[in-house]
Amino acid sequence: MPKKIIAGNWKMNMTFDEGQKLTSEIVNMYQDESISGVEVVLNVPFPHLMPVKKLIGKAQGIEVGAQNCSDQASGAYTGEVSAQMIASFGAKYVIIGHSERRSLFQEDNDLLAKKVKIALDSGLTPIFCCGESLEIREAGTHIPNVKFQLTQGLFDLSAENFAKVVIAYEPIWAIGTGKTASSDQAQEMHSALRKHIAAQYGKEIAAEVSILYGGSMKPDNAQDLLSKKDVDGGLIGGASLKSRDFIDIIKSY
Ligand code: 13P
Repeated sequence: MPKKIIAGNWKMNMTFDEGQKLTSEIVNMYQDESISGVEVVLNVPFPHLMPVKKLIGKAQGIEVGAQNCSDQASGAYTGEVSAQMIASFGAKYVIIGHSERRSLFQEDNDLLAKKVKIALDSGLTPIFCCGESLEIREAGTHIPNVKFQLTQGLFDLSAENFAKVVIAYEPIWAIGTGKTASSDQAQEMHSALRKHIAAQYGKEIAAEVSILYGGSMKPDNAQDLLSKKDVDGGLIGGASLKSRDFIDIIKSY
């Protein structure tokens, strides 16, 4: 069975105080409401990694992640943050290839493949994002398009390394738009991706990989999306900035 994961992506939001307040609320609700069986991840901006990790403390089941890392190990890359640094601050996950990184920062599949490798070498679990634009969805070529993103970004990995990766399917037209993919649309894509993985790495690995859905997941649509066979969790933007909404999504799983 794939691990069930609900991951928040704060994107470029939250001052220090706001981040502390949000994290404390999430940790308290998580404990008070006896949540278990789901790995919760807070993918925070770099400066929050350490303080958020400290606030989580010994709470079991909540992990910290980053939203990006450099494709280089270390050295003269002013302004960059390495995967090794991220891991050294106690993070377990790193988002790689979010559509905002692909479109706003021109990150292509070759660069993302390098980032995935360096993240794995540093002991981090990459949450590899993929997803199609509205144009591609309307042209009906979304499945081959997203399969290709996986091939290019991940299929150079050894089977052992691939088994450590988490995938997040985030249709670009559903991100921050309030438009969610229907649960059937999500299931169709997730199932196609699992088959694609099975063809490359075998059925056993494909059956174990967590494939998350992201794109306007909210408390009122989460249960439907998360009930689908091949949907193993969610990657949540806007709703992860509100403690009650985020916890309600986790609880709906
Ligand atoms: P929203 O949940 O705000 O649509 O964002 C999804 C996302 O991009 C998560 O990475």
